[in-house]
Amino acid sequence: MAIVASVATLDRYVDQEIELRGWVFSRRKGGRILFLQVRDGTGIVPCIANRDNFEPEVFAELKALGQESSLIIRGTVSADERSPIGVELHVTSVQVLQNATDYPITKKEHGSHFLHDHRHLWFRSRRQQAILKIRHLAVRAFRDYFDDRGYTLIDSPVLTPNACEGTSTLFEVPYFGQSAFLTQSGQLYQEAGAMAFGKTYCFGPTFRAEKSATRRHLTEFWMLEPEVAYADLDDVMDLCEDFMVECVAFVLREGREHLEVLGRDISKLEAVQKPFPRITYDEACAMLEELGTPVDAEDDFGSPHETVLTQQFDRPVMVHRYPSAIKAFYMKQDPTNPLRAMGVDVLAPEGYGEVIGGGQREDDLDALLGRIHDHGLPEEAFSWYLDLRRYGSCPHGGFGIGLERFVTWVCGIHHVRETIPFPRTIDRLNP
Ligand code: 4AD
Ligand code: MG
Repeated sequence: MAIVASVATLDRYVDQEIELRGWVFSRRKGGRILFLQVRDGTGIVPCIANRDNFEPEVFAELKALGQESSLIIRGTVSADERSPIGVELHVTSVQVLQNATDYPITKKEHGSHFLHDHRHLWFRSRRQQAILKIRHLAVRAFRDYFDDRGYTLIDSPVLTPNACEGTSTLFEVPYFGQSAFLTQSGQLYQEAGAMAFGKTYCFGPTFRAEKSATRRHLTEFWMLEPEVAYADLDDVMDLCEDFMVECVAFVLREGREHLEVLGRDISKLEAVQKPFPRITYDEACAMLEELGTPVDAEDDFGSPHETVLTQQFDRPVMVHRYPSAIKAFYMKQDPTNPLRAMGVDVLAPEGYGEVIGGGQREDDLDALLGRIHDHGLPEEAFSWYLDLRRYGSCPHGGFGIGLERFVTWVCGIHHVRETIPFPRTIDRLNP
């Protein structure tokens, strides 16, 4: 019996006969020779079938194979410098499982709407696979970072009774005669976790009924959120910085081949080193004013502001102390100026903008109650959360990193929707 090999491991079997299970990626005929590019999910290998080695009707069948036909190939692995993977396969026999005809995604240009309608097929393509491989590596980097540093995984629930990030982007779901909401962030539960375990994180899907159709917004995205007891804003910024540097380095180390498929400028990622510039919101506003992109007084930054600001730096920039009025209810006010919140956004360079939001939490019971009322939030729904300020309250903080925003930047691609297997946006629930 021949060894069953994957494309990624073929170079171990030079001059040996192996079996490969995969799909036709592309096909080129040349008289007596048929060139097939065969993919198996781990890579793509050139396969060469010589007419002399096949019955005429078998060879005719092979020549007629459509893109994405499924097959089991036997052949001899041969070293070849011209092959992008250093080897090719000289085919001795082929078992066709299905000859697929009229595969809808061809070499010609397709519009993005068409491609997203065919997402279930589209991610067989080389570029999309490279992006999703980087996503997988990013997830490993995220988890390893916290697992290696003594954080405990505390899963936050997906069905929640209350809003975390404002009431305007809540997805409401019926829940046995009452209302529940899909979680916008696991943070509040991590605060409970940090008071119990010291350092915790959660990582899961989060939901925002974002009515904006921008290249940065999904309605379902994955967020990793660490939370640390006895941490202040500076500690949170140190953590963001160290985490980003380590995660980018991990992807560079493990995912270079995928970044190359994407044509990513690696030097831009190599520049992600400590220290990241740290500027206040007020300093950022002054810079933006000077750069001709002024921010309305006390307003949040829009994409154009983040784009211009991040183009000034070769590495992520941390903007802290935004106006309290535009930030979530749980953010601690700056003790030296209550109009400013002890929050930080980490903005990725090259115009990518916010990838992390976080900061120090309000740890005073009365101040927090006041904020809940100011934001018009129902106090009853937060009674459990207020217990955390009644029993052993202490300074604490953390952050949330959006996986898809991070992957979009690392891959250097335009739109966040290509970084998740099946994107959900205001205008897409299919496939
Ligand atoms: O800044 P946000 O809203 O912060 C929080 O949710 C905090 N509770 C996190 C915390 O401190 N534990 O969201 C955090 C990150 C953003 O920086 C962004 O990367 C991502 O989540 N994000 C989105 N990603 C894709 N589509 C959207 N609609 C997103 N909204 C936020
Ligand atoms: Mg934010």
